[in-house]
Amino acid sequence: MRATSFLALAFAASCLWLASGQDPATAPSAPVAPFARHALADELDCATCHATIVDEWATSAHAHAWIDAHYQAELATKQRPESCHGCHIPTPLAEVATHQKPPPRKAELEAHEFGVSCLTCHAGPEGAMLGPYGAATKAHPTLRDPRFAQERSNELCIGCHATTIGPVIGIARDYVTQPELAQTYSCVNCHMDEVERSMATDANDEPLAPRKGRSHTLHGPLNAEFLAKAFDIVARTEGTGPDARTLVVVTNAAGHRVPGLLDRRFELVVDALDARGAKLASTTLVVDQRAFLALNERKELVLPVAAEQVRVRATHHARRLPRPVVFLERVLPTQAD
Ligand code: HEC
Ligand code: HEC
Ligand code: HEC
Ligand code: HEC
Ligand code: HEC
Repeated sequence: MRATSFLALAFAASCLWLASGQDPATAPSAPVAPFARHALADELDCATCHATIVDEWATSAHAHAWIDAHYQAELATKQRPESCHGCHIPTPLAEVATHQKPPPRKAELEAHEFGVSCLTCHAGPEGAMLGPYGAATKAHPTLRDPRFAQERSNELCIGCHATTIGPVIGIARDYVTQPELAQTYSCVNCHMDEVERSMATDANDEPLAPRKGRSHTLHGPLNAEFLAKAFDIVARTEGTGPDARTLVVVTNAAGHRVPGLLDRRFELVVDALDARGAKLASTTLVVDQRAFLALNERKELVLPVAAEQVRVRATHHARRLPRPVVFLERVLPTQAD
């Protein structure tokens, strides 16, 4: 399974990183709090019984899709702001054709403030909540829906993530043109962790028995550790004497093209080092909307020396970040060819 190898890679990468000995001056910057807790989260009806899930969702980008200051600022500059609303205040997906972007929801259904809300993904016909089990409860009708099973869960994500509009690059476009990708890549596998926990409390406020599900904490590029997983890096040397060189291969290990916003830029500074760690040569890989990494794409960097080891230091630049963030600092041994 692709997901397993992704995790294995990520694990191996973090071990290498730990083994490299962190220098506090250059170690990844303190995490930037991605999104503050949604101020109205506890006013959701669902919060009475699904408090844990509401807590997870409340700090996700989805919760902020409408109240986001960046979004509101751009709306103010648009002649037809309605054309932006569909994905930021969507109608429930159960009413939208597969892979289509949703139209905006009617104001009487739910306040705009809740952005990509619980009802967006879970509201079904006649007040039923769609989910992986269809567990019986007096609280509301429930229905088992195949889109909450692993094999079809990408269908919950693609419609809003495949369109290039405003500052956004439709990174899931490949999933529409190559439907077979769904057999290899799962959005929720990478972005929503598997958990086993009580998913609701009963009428007496007691948690029900645990079940397998997914955390609604949405991993994204503002989480440095998660972002580092997008870059699989290996280094090797080739040739001898004056022809010797070091090749550093950077492979896109995210499940789609990288990055996903026009203003997002990643800079990977790669230094060739001798055995004692002295710098012999250096090069930089810039990854942005023009020099993007396509799905699975590898970029080969060439340094004109035989290095014993290679140091990679990567920074994330985006208008949402008050300052560039170091998200990866790693020293790799080179393999001889
Ligand atoms: C097809 C669905 C869709 C539509 C329509 C849409 N957006 Fe978005 N928007 C998204 C997605 C998905 C993201 C998150 C992308 C990411 O983080 O990579 C986003 C994020 C944003 C952000 C946050 C960017 C940041 O800096 O973090 C802004 C601002 C924004 N959209 C503005 C707009 C504007 C303006 C329009 C109308 C011209 C619009 N959106 C229409 C899906 C949409
Ligand atoms: C009065 C309490 C209560 C409220 C309010 C409530 N739920 Fe539930 N919900 C439950 C209980 C209890 C279960 C069943 C849990 C179990 O059996 O493990 C459940 C199950 C679910 C499921 C799982 C369906 C499945 O496949 O098994 C979903 C999804 C869900 N609720 C969504 C929501 C959403 C969205 C809201 C708000 C619009 C909401 N619920 C409001 C108590 C509530
Ligand atoms: C109804 C439209 C919609 C659906 C459905 C949707 N998203 Fe999003 N998603 C958005 C919007 C809008 C944003 C950006 C909000 C903002 O930054 O203002 C976003 C942001 C994100 C981000 C960026 C997170 C970050 O921290 O920057 C990720 C990752 C993401 N979505 C993954 C998913 C996954 C996985 C699914 C399917 C389970 C999904 N989305 C379904 C509209 C949607
Ligand atoms: C972008 C779509 C999306 C949004 C928004 C969303 N969910 Fe979910 N929800 C999912 C997915 C995907 C699963 C996992 C299905 C599985 O088990 O693989 C899930 C699972 C659940 C479950 C079943 C138990 C579990 O832990 O997996 C409940 C209950 C639930 N969600 C409630 C909520 C509530 C309450 C909110 C709002 C705070 C919410 N969801 C917002 C997509 C969403
Ligand atoms: C193999 C793991 C993996 C899979 C599968 C995957 N992602 Fe990602 N995703 C990542 C990583 C790692 C990043 C951070 C790099 C980046 O920002 O592009 C990311 C970033 C994102 C972003 C933010 C992009 C940006 O730079 O603004 C969005 C939105 C997103 N993913 C949505 C999705 C959706 C929707 C799917 C399914 C169609 C999906 N992802 C499948 C690993 C994955």
